[in-house]
Amino acid sequence: MQTIDYLRISLIDRCNFRCQYCMPSEDELTYLLQENLLTKEEIITLLQKVFIPLGFNKFRLTGGEPLLRPDLVEIVEAITALPETQDLALSTNAFLLEKLAKPLYDAGLRRINISLDSLNPENFDSIIGNNGRSRWQQTWKGILAAHSVGFNPLKLNVVVIPGVNDQEVLDLAALTRDRNWHVRFIEFMPIGNSDWFHDRAWIPSEELRQQIRQKWGLEASSVKGNGPADVFQIPEAKGTLGFISQMSECFCDRCNRMRLSADGWLRPCLLNETGQMDLKTHLRQSPNFRQMREQVAQLIALKPEINFKERENGTLTGTYNRTMSQIGG
Ligand code: GTP
Ligand code: 5AD
Ligand code: SF4
Repeated sequence: MQTIDYLRISLIDRCNFRCQYCMPSEDELTYLLQENLLTKEEIITLLQKVFIPLGFNKFRLTGGEPLLRPDLVEIVEAITALPETQDLALSTNAFLLEKLAKPLYDAGLRRINISLDSLNPENFDSIIGNNGRSRWQQTWKGILAAHSVGFNPLKLNVVVIPGVNDQEVLDLAALTRDRNWHVRFIEFMPIGNSDWFHDRAWIPSEELRQQIRQKWGLEASSVKGNGPADVFQIPEAKGTLGFISQMSECFCDRCNRMRLSADGWLRPCLLNETGQMDLKTHLRQSPNFRQMREQVAQLIALKPEINFKERENGTLTGTYNRTMSQIGG
């Protein structure tokens, strides 16, 4: 059985973008109250008393948009200071990264994954649901700031959606030819905003690989991730191309992760709500950490059965109570 040692920690459910595939429309949105977000101290307590003793040593900070969290740099400092931390990474949309890249690096962060669905400013703005103000330039500056500060690996996540950004796959792949960047194409999971996508909402990774192979050739990369991506490379390229194919291939049996929501719910699977556990309420009463560890260990033991069972036919039929922006991808 796969070792479960990686926790994705969502710090906030708000986002400064409205990526149409990720967020419901504005009038359906409700946000967590500040008092319901786990504090920095609570997160660290949960790591020290529950997750680290159970063998977790890889952590990723997600959102919503984690750069909106005012104490993000302190949280990074506190997690990197834990002697057991082997890996800490961040997933962001980079809009606020130009100024924050250096403080985050100085706080000990080395790994960053950035969403970038388009290189075309107009297309980008329409995907992120811009409200009149172009955001592409500032996002690009954030990416360049992360690059010059020295984040390595620097990964760019592209959710590929037919008719929206699939025509840009070669341009996005080309970014890796002369930069040590890792561009990852993600099969869109048709959940969430169902008004927005159509019948064939996702493109199998193999189709993208064929396009890239025809243009430049494509070889398996020696760089291996610890996540769901299959990694390839354009011959002679400085960077790599990853493919995250949760719709066309099942990688649940190599899933090594659990997710903690910003309001302290632990969920064993991105796409299956079975077994979720409210850690915040327990923590805020008089916590019995031994009992919490036992309960989390029981949930981990059940994890192989709690997976993405609905993949059949490439559609997701279940009802999801939380959007991707609330879970953190
Ligand atoms: P690395 O550790 O850098 O490889 O990161 P990652 O790919 O795990 O993290 P990231 O936040 O960049 O996630 C990218 C995308 O991978 C997410 O949007 C999801 O689409 C997909 N993904 C990550 N973890 C899972 C998972 O457990 N199950 C499924 N189905 N998809 C996942
Ligand atoms: N399908 C696939 N990926 C998604 N993300 C958000 N919503 C979806 C979806 N429906 C991705 C974001 C980001 C990551 C954390 O999650 O683009 O890169
Ligand atoms: Fe925000 Fe990321 Fe969701 Fe886009 S994908 S709305 S940037 S949380």
